[in-house]
Amino acid sequence: ESTPDLVVVGSGFFGLTIAERCATELGLRVLVLERRHHLGGNAYSEADPETGIEMHVYGAHLFHTSNEKVWDYVNRFTSFTNYQHRVFGQYDGQVYSLPMNLGLINQFFGRSHTPDEARALIAEQASEIETSEATNLEEKAISLIGRPLYEAFIKGYTAKQWQTDPTKLSADIITRLPVRYNFDNRWFNDKYEGLPVDGYTAWLTRMADHPNIEVRLETDFFAPGHEYSADTIKGTVPIVYTGPVDEYFGNSEGRLSWRTVDLEAEVKHVDDFQGCAVMNYNDQDVPWTRIHEFKHFHPERTYISGKTVIVHEYSRFAEDDDEPYYPVNTAEDREKLLKYRELAKKEPMVLFGGRLGTYKYLDMHMAIGSALSMFENKLKPHFAEGAALH
Ligand code: FAD
Ligand code: NA
Repeated sequence: ESTPDLVVVGSGFFGLTIAERCATELGLRVLVLERRHHLGGNAYSEADPETGIEMHVYGAHLFHTSNEKVWDYVNRFTSFTNYQHRVFGQYDGQVYSLPMNLGLINQFFGRSHTPDEARALIAEQASEIETSEATNLEEKAISLIGRPLYEAFIKGYTAKQWQTDPTKLSADIITRLPVRYNFDNRWFNDKYEGLPVDGYTAWLTRMADHPNIEVRLETDFFAPGHEYSADTIKGTVPIVYTGPVDEYFGNSEGRLSWRTVDLEAEVKHVDDFQGCAVMNYNDQDVPWTRIHEFKHFHPERTYISGKTVIVHEYSRFAEDDDEPYYPVNTAEDREKLLKYRELAKKEPMVLFGGRLGTYKYLDMHMAIGSALSMFENKLKPHFAEGAALH
């Protein structure tokens, strides 16, 4: 058996983009190590066994981008539906159309406003607090959109997301709270948007479908004693590492903190449970943050009738064994991250990438775009021209 030219740790969008580019463009033999039982990282999806409905196992994933390079690249592996994401939100017995827009304002304040009237109303309500003087998240939000909208649409949801009262959260968690003074309720503003026609897993599988790429599932880079364990191969072959950066260094500088979500799926014996893909729950006494109904992501498909699958989502701080989803990014985390970055620079044959390797929330198009840049700026010069890896 021949040794690979490159080892990639992690088979999410970052790792698969690196593997695909190196195999296709440079003819390298790439070995991808993946500790889960499936490839694809958090974008992985599978059919619910009872209903056949495509479920995004690690939370709903909506693809969107304005990056032409990324759009061209992803279209090599899948085509996209014309799905446009829209989100609705419950508060105090009513359903509103999000993000905050003229429709929501009219419904909430119980009368119609022109765009200018609505702008004047919100400016007046926001004048209660000067943004530069806000000392916590609650004051910051009120300074931006006023108290009534804050209390209905930000306070309860944020408290549930962070399991913390917004007066105890840092003001710099939010920089803006966009309000649209028109009836536009599309969730994303990007030029391209859609869902992969044959699903995420088909797309991710096609990326790895190359004779020079081998994906080894259920293989943890850090588990000792296998052929490609960290302790065996470090320093002998170039590695692109997309796992958690703190874990790579044995948490020597302390663990970085993450939020996670608990997802509870349940089959309901109705055609349509909520009439849309995502419903937010803004009331503080409702314990979940959102309900997803996955059949609505693919109105073009013919799914089973009389059944649907819904997923309640709950948000909390991640403990040691939880899936890390969103970086908490406190000042303490940022200090640790700087130390890990210094250590990472000293790992001569290892490049760190992806959301876990850089401790950054990355949308899929950002993870793919950043992998394409690493390929162009680091890997191609190294393998094609003999440049140093770093
Ligand atoms: P990941 O997908 O996390 O892949 C990393 C892989 O590395 C994992 O498979 C992991 O098992 C593996 N690994 C780690 N350590 C080891 C090890 N030691 N040995 C072997 N394998 C290892 N993006 C969007 O664009 N739209 C969305 O709507 C959207 N929704 C999201 C919702 C949630 C709840 C979350 C958490 C993310 C969402 N994202 C969304 C972001 C998307 O998931 C990321 O962009 C994408 O996962 C990044 O890919 P990655 O390769 O960097 O990381
Ligand atoms: Na203000």
